[in-house]
Amino acid sequence: MTPQENYHDWLRDAHAMEKQAESMLTAMSSRIDNYPDLRARIEQHLTETQGQLKLLETVLDRNGINRSVMKDATSKMAAMGQSFTGMFASDEIVKGAISSYVFEQFEIACYTSLIAAAEKAGDVASIDIFKQILAQEVAMAEWSLNHIPNVTDQFLLRSAADGVEAKK
Ligand SMILES: [Fe+2]
Repeated sequence: MTPQENYHDWLRDAHAMEKQAESMLTAMSSRIDNYPDLRARIEQHLTETQGQLKLLETVLDRNGINRSVMKDATSKMAAMGQSFTGMFASDEIVKGAISSYVFEQFEIACYTSLIAAAEKAGDVASIDIFKQILAQEVAMAEWSLNHIPNVTDQFLLRSAADGVEAKK
């Protein structure tokens, strides 16, 4: 395979990854009732993710990639996303906070690789877009990691109290 062919596969994978991120963030934010800081940050990142999808679509178009034939990569990512979610578990908020951090790190690694591949494939025009997206993923990863102790503390307090919902 040429660098361009591999690069084009990875662009499809990145688009599928963001579609998966969009559905995970939508599901998480709609389920959270008692953790307003986490919910607000997830909603912010959902908006960012929808912007990232639009940016990636400009990259796909510039590279002549047909966006209607990307189902395969999408279903691969869906399987991966499911393995991250502890949804409906009694401690789902803590599992979710951990999972979203892990997913952000996955995205960071993917965009870091895409930047190197874009250079090799000669798609210099897309590099600034990947860097812009990468900065949003780094910010979300940092916030997520820094907020894990707080979510854990709040969960433990709620879990120990009678008649208080802790899980979400
Ligand atoms: Fe993203």
